[in-house]
Amino acid sequence: MPAELSPIDKAKFAAARRAVDYVEDGMKVGLGTGSTAAWMVRCLGEMVREDGLRITGVPTSSRTADLARQVGIEVIGLDEAKWLDLTIDGADEFDGQLNLIKGGGGALLQEKIVATASDQMIVIADAAKEVAALGAFPLPVEVVPFGWQTTRALIEEMLISMEVLGRQTTLRLNGTQPFVTDEGNYIVDLHLNRIANPRQLSLVLNQIPGVVENGLFIDICDRVIIGGADGKVEI
Ligand code: 5RP
Repeated sequence: MPAELSPIDKAKFAAARRAVDYVEDGMKVGLGTGSTAAWMVRCLGEMVREDGLRITGVPTSSRTADLARQVGIEVIGLDEAKWLDLTIDGADEFDGQLNLIKGGGGALLQEKIVATASDQMIVIADAAKEVAALGAFPLPVEVVPFGWQTTRALIEEMLISMEVLGRQTTLRLNGTQPFVTDEGNYIVDLHLNRIANPRQLSLVLNQIPGVVENGLFIDICDRVIIGGADGKVEI
């Protein structure tokens, strides 16, 4: 473990270090986005450089692609890879059914496409990400810039009609400008407090014109590795 890490980084590193044990020679691996996933990319890079591990990585964001190349991982696109053996990614929240909220880093669209195109998805997280019910973390929804305010109004109407408790929505900003995803879209964050039926909400959100994808990952994750600040992990 690198020296001088904060307790939270120790936990993230521990989860990442354990997850790379699932990576075998010759695998095509989806590389997630975020601070926990970055530890996993660094660990894999070390295995490539020092142990001769041969893998190809499919990154889920331009940030992860840059990091993967820097640490020596061969990077290819999803269309070239076609299907992946394994994706390892972080999450903003996970529940007991392994449903997730993702997209805190704004990469939910590529993350969902890549994870869905994988035989297995492993989530790496610190214990604070585990919740009884999803929704305390604002749910990211990726929307096309054209008519985004109309799309946002339609989302709010839908939340009212579904009698969802929290209904506040905010456009994600980068400074004073809208945050723009790798696909050139915006993100509207939904402050819901508690999501009673994540599967239904995910389906309904994706029916709204202008919505590209939402950050609920249902039936996608196979395993969560929870890292502790003491370096121990729970699977
Ligand atoms: C990015 C994500 C991240 O995986 C999620 O935000 C967790 O990030 P971190 O590991 O930095 O807490 O979904 O879109």
